[in-house]
This record gives sequence, structure tokens and C-alpha cells, in this order.
Amino acid sequence: MIEGSHAWHHPVYVAILGLVAERAGLRPPSCPPAALEGIHRAMVRAGLSDLETYQARLEEDPALLDDLLVELTIGETYFFRNPEHFDFLRQEALPEISRRRGPEHVVRLWSAGCASGEEPYSLAVLMMEEGYEDRMRVYGTDVSRAALARARAATYGDWSLRGPQAHRMWPFLHQEGKRYHLERQVREHVHLGYLNLAQPSWPSATSGIREMDVILCRNVLIYFNRPTIQAVAHQLHATLAEGGFLITGPSDPSLNEFAPFDTLVTDWGIVYRRPGATPKAPRIAHRVTPAEAPAPPAAALPLAPPQAAPQPPPPIAAPDSALPGVEEARQALARGDWHEAALRAGVLQEDPGAAAVAVRALANLDLRAAVHACAEAAARHPLAGELRYLEALLLLGMGRLPESERAVRQALYLEPSLAVAHLTLGIILRRQGDPQGAKRAFRTAESLCAVLPPEAPVPLSDGESASKLEAVARAERTRLEREEAEENH
Ligand SMILES: C[S@@+](CC[C@H](N)C(=O)[O-])C[C@H]1O[C@@H](n2cnc3c(N)ncnc32)[C@H](O)[C@@H]1O
Repeated sequence: MIEGSHAWHHPVYVAILGLVAERAGLRPPSCPPAALEGIHRAMVRAGLSDLETYQARLEEDPALLDDLLVELTIGETYFFRNPEHFDFLRQEALPEISRRRGPEHVVRLWSAGCASGEEPYSLAVLMMEEGYEDRMRVYGTDVSRAALARARAATYGDWSLRGPQAHRMWPFLHQEGKRYHLERQVREHVHLGYLNLAQPSWPSATSGIREMDVILCRNVLIYFNRPTIQAVAHQLHATLAEGGFLITGPSDPSLNEFAPFDTLVTDWGIVYRRPGATPKAPRIAHRVTPAEAPAPPAAALPLAPPQAAPQPPPPIAAPDSALPGVEEARQALARGDWHEAALRAGVLQEDPGAAAVAVRALANLDLRAAVHACAEAAARHPLAGELRYLEALLLLGMGRLPESERAVRQALYLEPSLAVAHLTLGIILRRQGDPQGAKRAFRTAESLCAVLPPEAPVPLSDGESASKLEAVARAERTRLEREEAEENH
């Protein structure tokens, strides 16, 4: 492996990522050091130790490139992820499709980017629950052959069952030790196959990827560069039957500017639809034109500067722990049992406090998965300042400074008196070369701590006292002032 802080600019790495962008449409990695390590791991798996040889082999062996993609994307998924999407299908889309296409119609559903299969199998179970057992066809495709092999094996652990509605899978699982095998009854409804979304090979009659009534393409578009998002949006549109529904993930980019979808703002989130069918969905709250379609939740929050003259912070409400189980998750987190904490909190995602516990636990297990989970939770709970703050910390840890700044400003918009967020903003601004902004942020953090009793724990600081945090902010500010004075001499 090529070492050092400039390794990233080495022409062979640049060429490898160029190839990944060209063949799989991935945007440049948000965390270059993690991507370098991933490239290195894939190279070792290929039995090679020389980077240039590996690059040459990647050019000619598609299987090697697929294997590398596993390192550059997250195959993170679980059963009935984002249950509101399945509620939308059950309550709105399926009855509407049935009415429109008649009781004989075989409903066609596609999980595009299905990873290890939890998503298409959840679709199959939903269809069985709703009585479509004899008139459904579910497809699941992915670019990762390793993930597809896991999907075909259909044997899962607790981790895949951590979602709040995983219990819907229980009737179709049988347990052996710590693993759960999915019954053939569900498996036989799902047709799994390799498909690279970034290639123009679809829609296609040969693969069956065409005329879909429902497409889930969730948490995949986030990896793509803009030209690929545009091309994929067009292809998704062309793959839908008239009146068909497309659902993307909460942190995926908006598609309405790229293809002529109807964008529906529903009680269950944003849904895209290929026009052409009689619009007859009474509970669909609002149909919008592309021009008025909303930006994703993260971008929709207006940014506000921190308060110039901070007020004493209101007592921060204890995180909402109304749901049973949140306290157990917190205790697991406190004793460092990350896996247990993530599992317990993961099933309580409707509680923002539990979502924060899950993110904190995940951060100790898989940083990239934690960032992903945090963005998802923040989109689900747009008023939870803690989630935005955690997102900022995670992004800061990965060196993604502009995104981290955006997240911390959103946290401050929601909770202007959050001293730890001002401190974090100061650190981000200093690292981005804005000493004036950084000084202002540190000063605000100092003032907010100063109005608290010295021994009082500062909210969201993991129990740090007000006097200690004030001293940290002051030290940061005075360091900047000293540096400024030295420069002026
Ligand atoms: C986070 S998982 C999403 C799984 C599932 N859709 C969900 O939301 O739970 C992202 C998946 O996208 C797949 N992927 C990335 N680039 C792809 C491409 N060019 N074509 C098809 N799948 C791709 C990855 O292999 C990975 O399995």
C-alpha cells in the first residue's frame, strides 16, 4: 500500500477511482483514507500485492471491479427497513394497482441495489401478507456478487432483524443456533440477479427488468455522481409501467429534476410515479410539479447563525425515552456493549433518543454505517438536534468538513444554545481556514458554559462539566488569537 498523506493523489489510485466512476458511476469517495484501505483489501483478496498490476487487472476483469465496489459502498440493510415505505405500498399503492390493472394482474416489484436480500424478501413477505401470493413477481438485483451470494443463501443473523418490523419475518424463518434460515415459500418468489445500475443494459426484456409496478431503489443513488444519477433516473422511469411507483431512500438525492416523474408528497414520504395512469389515490396528500418538489429534508432546513448574545440554555429535555427498551439500550451503550446497544436501539427507530443511541453504538462498530444510519435517522426526525450534532461529529471524524459544517449548523438552528455544537463548529471552521468564524463559535461556547453552574454537566457532552468545557473553548480561542497576533508581527 502506498503510505502517507499524499497517497491519495498517487496516479494509480486516481486511475482506479476513475475506472470505478466510469464503470459503476460512483462519485469520488467521501473518505479517501477509508477508500484507500478498501482498495488495498480488495487487492489482497485478488491475491495481488502490486498496485499497478491490480489496476491493469481491474481494467479487464469485471469480477475484480465488482469486488472492489463492495469496499467503496456499504451493503448495510435489514428487513422492513423504513417501514413507512411498506405501509405506503400496503395502504395506497397495492390497492390502487389492483383497482387499475384488475384482479388478475401479476404485480411486478423490483429491489434495485438489494444487497444481501433483506429488501426484496421483505417485499415478498408484504405481498404474501396482503394475499398476492399467486400474483406477484419480485426481482432483486445488485452489482455485488458477494452480496447476491448472501441473498441466495438467505441465512441471516440478528443484525438483519434489528428493524422495528422485523417480527413480520418470524413466520418465515427457522432458527439454527444464532442463524435464521428463510423458508423456501418466500425465497421462491424472489428472482435475484446481477445488474449494474450505472450501465445502459436495462430496462431489458431478457432480464425481466421492465414494466415494474413498484421499484425500491433505496440508499444506492447516494453513491452515484451526478451524470449517473441523471441516467439512472431516466432508466428507472423507463422501467416503470405507466402509473408505477418508485421509492428512494430518505438520504438519496431528489430525482424530480432528472426525469418526468410525478413527485408525490405522501403521508409516508416522497414517492415518484410514472405518469399515465388515472390519478386515484385519495390519501396521497399532495402532488407537486418538479419545480415545487421539495429538497431532501437535510437541505430543507434553513441555516441560522449562532445567537450573538446567547441566553442561558433552557434545561435540555432528557431524550425521549417513552418507549420501553430505550433505557436498556442506553445501559448497553454505557457499558460499551456496542452490538447489544445497536440491536436494542435499532428496533426503536421511531424514538429520536433511541436513534441517537443506535448511531453512537454503530460509530464504534462501523463508522461509515454510522454516518449512513445517522443521516437516515436525522431525515426521519428532522427536529432532533442531537442527531444533526452526532452527524456533524461523525463527518468531522471522517474529514468531511463542509458536510460536517452543514450538519452542525442545522443542529444549532434546532438548538441554538447547544454549547458542544458551537465548540464543534469552531473546530470545523478553524480546520477550514476561517479563524474569525472559529473564534466567534468558541466565544459563544464559552459564554453558554459560563452561565451554567461550574460542575453542571453540559448537555450532550458525555457528562463533561461546564467549567471544563468553558476552559477548552477558551484555550481554543486564545490559541487562535495568539496565532493571529504572531502573524501580524
Ligand atoms: C446500502 S445498500 C442498500 C440496500 C437496500 N436497498 C436498502 O436500502 O436497505 C447499497 C447497495 O447498492 C449496491 N450498489 C452500489 N453501486 C451499484 C451499482 N452501480 N449498481 C447496482 N448496485 C449498486 C451495493 O452493492 C450495495 O449492496
